[in-house]
Parts: sequence; C-alpha cells; structure tokens
Amino acid sequence: MLADENWRLRAAACEILADRPGAATLAPLVGRAADIDWRVRAAAVAGLSKIHPLPNDLALRDKPLDDRQRALLAWLDAYDAAAPGATLKPELCELFADGSYLEFGRPLVERCLTCHVGYKQHPMADSGACASCYPSIYADWYGSAHAQSLSHLQLRTVRAEDRQVAWVSFGELRGMSCVECHAVFERAATNPAASPPATSSGPAASKPGCPSATGPAAAADESCARCHGEVDRQWRQWLAGRQPHRADWPPGQVDLDGSRDTRTCVDCHMTLVSTSPAELPHRDHRWRARRDAALLADGIALEIQPHADSAGATCVRFTLTNLAGHDYPTGTARRAIRLYAGPAGADDLPLLAAMSPRRPGWLWTDTQPPLAPGEQRHYDLMLPDSAQSVDYRLVFFRNTLDPNGFTNVITVGTVAVTPSASAEQAAAP
Ligand code: HEC
Ligand code: HEC
Ligand code: HEC
Ligand code: HEC
Repeated sequence: MLADENWRLRAAACEILADRPGAATLAPLVGRAADIDWRVRAAAVAGLSKIHPLPNDLALRDKPLDDRQRALLAWLDAYDAAAPGATLKPELCELFADGSYLEFGRPLVERCLTCHVGYKQHPMADSGACASCYPSIYADWYGSAHAQSLSHLQLRTVRAEDRQVAWVSFGELRGMSCVECHAVFERAATNPAASPPATSSGPAASKPGCPSATGPAAAADESCARCHGEVDRQWRQWLAGRQPHRADWPPGQVDLDGSRDTRTCVDCHMTLVSTSPAELPHRDHRWRARRDAALLADGIALEIQPHADSAGATCVRFTLTNLAGHDYPTGTARRAIRLYAGPAGADDLPLLAAMSPRRPGWLWTDTQPPLAPGEQRHYDLMLPDSAQSVDYRLVFFRNTLDPNGFTNVITVGTVAVTPSASAEQAAAP
C-alpha cells in the first residue's frame, strides 16, 4: 500500500502507521515524507510529528523541493540526537531505496552520492587513466557493483521549469572510482614501479599517478567500513565471537569451535586472482557477492539429519550454520534466504524457513532475523510415514519486494529418510 500507484492508498497507509507511532513504524513514514504527492507527504509528516516535532510547513504543496528535503534531513539529525541507540541517518539508503513515487532534491541526492559515488574529487575520477597500468584490474572494476553504483539509483525529481516528473540525471558519473579506496601518488616522485612510461613532455609530477601498488590508503577493513558500516559492525562481532568452520573430517560436518580466524572483507571478497600467465596475481576487483554461487555456498553450512521423534514419527532436522564473516544474509533488508523442503517429488516444495536482514524502523512479519555471525539454527520437518526421501533447496533472494528479482541457488538436493539412512548424517556441501 505504501508504494501503491494510487496516492490515496499511499496516504491511507501513512495514516494507519501514524496511528501507531513508534520506532517500528518510523522508517516507512520518513520515506513517504518525500512522496511525489503533497497529500501523501502531509499524512507522513503528521505521523512523524507524533514521534518527534517537525516544522509543519514541511508538507506544504508549494514549498520548494530542496527546502523540504533540507528540513527533512534536519529532522533526521534532530531525531538521532534525541534518540541515540536507534539512529536513522546511517540508514538513508534503506529509508529511500525503494524509490517508487518518491522525489529527490539535491540535498537528498548528495547524501546518496556520499556512498554511491564517494567523497573524493580527483582528475582521475573516471579511472580511465588507471587502465593503462592495470588493465585486468580495470576490467574487473568496470563491471563491478562499485563502478556501477549509480545504476540502481533510479531517482525521480520534479523539474523546476515545468513541474514535470523526470529522472535525476547523473551526467557522466557511473559510480565509484579507484581513488575512493586508493591513495594516488604523484607519478614520478613516489611510485615509479607502478607508473607508466612518461609519454608526454609536460612535468610528470603535476599529473595524477596510478594507485599505489601497495594498496589503499586506509587499512582494508576501514576503507570498506566507511560505506558498509553495518556489515563492518557485524564483522567485528564475528572476530570477537564463535567462528564455526567446516571440519576436515568427517566431511560435511561443522566444527563449532573455530580457531581464531582473522580474515578481513578483502580476504573474502577480493581474493588473489591471476588473469593471464604473464601477469602477477592481483586482488579481484569484482567484489564477489551474491552472483558467485561458490561464495554463497562457502558462507553457510546445511546439515540434514533424519531421525524418529519420541512418538516414532519420521522427522528431518535441517541445521544451518553461518560460516561467513558477518550476518547471513547481510546488507539491505531486501535480501533473504529461504529454505524449502518436503517429501521428494512434490511439484512445489513447501517453505520451511525464511531469513532477512533487520534494520531499525522496519516491521517484519514474514521472515526471521538473519543468521548472526557464527549462529547455528535448527528447523524440523515432520514427514508422512510414506516418505522415503526429502527434497530441499536453499535459495538467496536479492529483493523480496520484487517477485521477479534475482535469485541464486545456494544448495539443492535429495536425502533419504529411511531408517537405515537415518543412522548416518547426510550433509550438503
Ligand atoms: C564509497 C563507498 C564504498 C566503499 C568505500 C566500499 N563500498 Fe562496497 N558498495 C558500495 C555501494 C554503494 C554498493 C552497492 C552498489 C549497488 O549495487 O548499487 C557496494 C556493493 C558492495 C558489494 C556487493 C557487490 C555486488 O555485486 O552486489 C560488496 C561485496 C562490497 N561492496 C564490498 C566492499 C569491500 C570489500 C570494500 C572495501 C575494500 C567496499 N565494498 C568499499 C559502496 C562502497
Ligand atoms: C569469512 C568471509 C567473509 C568476510 C570476512 C566478509 N564477508 Fe561479506 N560476504 C561473505 C559471504 C559468504 C557473503 C554472501 C552471504 C551474505 O550475504 O552474508 C557476503 C556478502 C557480502 C555483501 C553482499 C550483500 C548483498 O547481498 O548485497 C557485502 C556488501 C559484504 N559481504 C561486505 C563485506 C564487508 C564490508 C566485510 C568486512 C567488514 C565483509 N563482507 C567480510 C563472506 C565474507
Ligand atoms: C572499494 C575499494 C577499491 C576500489 C574502488 C579499487 N580498489 Fe584496488 N584495491 C583495494 C584493496 C582493498 C586492495 C588490496 C590491498 C591490500 O592487499 O592491502 C587493492 C589492491 C590494488 C592493487 C595492488 C595490487 C593487488 O592486486 O594487490 C592495485 C594495483 C589496485 N588495487 C588498483 C586499482 C585500480 C586501478 C582501481 C580502479 C580501476 C582500483 N584498484 C579500485 C580496494 C579498491
Ligand atoms: C552509508 C552509505 C550509503 C548511503 C548514504 C546510501 N547508500 Fe544505497 N547502498 C549502500 C550500500 C553499501 C549498498 C549495497 C548494500 C548491499 O549490497 O547489501 C547500497 C545499495 C543501494 C541500492 C540497491 C539495493 C539492491 O537491492 O541492490 C539502492 C536502490 C540504494 N542503495 C539507494 C540509495 C538511495 C536512494 C540513497 C540516498 C537516499 C542511498 N542509497 C544512500 C550504501 C549507501
């Protein structure tokens, strides 16, 4: 209803939320305070004022867009200052990521770009200059989510000239460049090894150089934390807590008490790769994530244990263990994993469990929280006596709001549940 095409339904949804003011109804109201229709904005603003005072001209029909959005951002600052503990500003991405029928003025777009492009201005910002020294890194980066980080930002605005709704244009910008993570040295002076041969007659030192061959300016995890703050917090929790891992023997089983594992974001998401025999191995600049089935499967263990319950009925226990360096799934609240399982051969496998990341200010009704770092969770499936085997499928969903959104199968299979099989442990990779 909140993102319905009909403004009346959007406004009604805001009114319903406004009747239940509280931390859990907050996030959707913040988004709708930037609705394209002033009547929806008015309903959202009325709801927000019940939680924290807001200048009431914010929703006025004729207040210029930029002024309204500045006021809304100021309100977020004030809210955060009054309610530390559940701060909203770091959640801007979540609050506005479902852009349906929202409008974006400059102040808000600029905030989005602090992460979706970065903060730095540099003559090399399009990264083309780096291609000559690092062709394969450049090629990896070019297709990556980082280089394309504006492509998901389909933001609408209302043109001042004719008050028509139009897409926000980012001009030539596509996403974040090398210099967001790398210190750039003046060419001749500091880093001759990584520099291309001088081809121009101009003074070399006045030109931008290539990224330092020794890596980014900041420690790897710090440079990721700047934009992936919540994932970084989870990673620190993993470093300090239980770190289960796959046992060497017997295969397929999980050892709950891992030795201290100190892998960073870079170790898991930027492994060393070698594109051609002539080239030294380099860090993978594609930032492997949900499109990489092996990475997805490595990060979680599914153990399957058929047994008879106390009444003698057949039962199968599915155990999921998070082996990743943070929540599984992590990232935006639109991600999910779903475990389907049921008697083999059925057309539609029933859903046994669904998990999604949690963010402040959202109400969840149809999923459980994600697996915390190191967490293990059990799900029991009761079976009819006739069942001989069970089909199962564990799937990653990119966007639970989009029925046709990207999915990737993490693991799938069939396991026997006959008494002879139940003595052994069936294990998925
Ligand atoms: C300047 C901000 C910024 C920094 C710094 C940054 N990221 Fe990202 N990252 C983003 C944004 C924005 C996206 C989402 C882009 C999109 O899908 O639109 C993203 C996406 C990702 C993804 C998902 C890739 C995919 O295919 O969907 C991974 C993995 C990732 N980042 C890892 C890292 C790691 C590791 C680091 C540190 C070396 C890092 N990021 C540093 C902003 C940043
Ligand atoms: C031990 C390995 C490991 C470490 C360490 C690790 N990750 Fe991941 N990461 C994974 C796995 C596995 C997934 C896919 C499952 C998931 O979403 O949790 C993933 C997924 C992601 C995603 C994709 C979320 C999405 O669906 O778009 C991002 C972004 C990300 N990690 C960032 C980071 C950052 C930032 C750090 C460091 C603070 C980090 N990761 C540390 C293994 C790791
Ligand atoms: C999201 C952050 C990020 C971006 C954007 C990025 N890099 Fe990197 N890069 C890293 C990290 C992290 C390392 C590993 C550093 C380490 O091992 O300490 C690295 C390593 C490197 C290295 C050292 C050699 C190696 O592979 O270990 C080179 C060269 C390099 N990057 C070039 C580039 C170029 C060229 C671009 C743009 C086309 C780029 N990087 C964009 C984060 C980034
Ligand atoms: C604090 C940094 C940050 C800010 C500010 C930010 N984002 Fe993001 N955004 C991210 C990261 C990191 C990802 C990737 C998350 C992941 O893959 O799990 C992302 C992903 C997205 C996505 C893709 C979601 C998907 O399902 O792949 C959209 C859309 C988006 N952001 C919209 C916005 C909008 C609109 C704004 C401004 C109102 C904004 N973001 C501000 C960091 C940020």
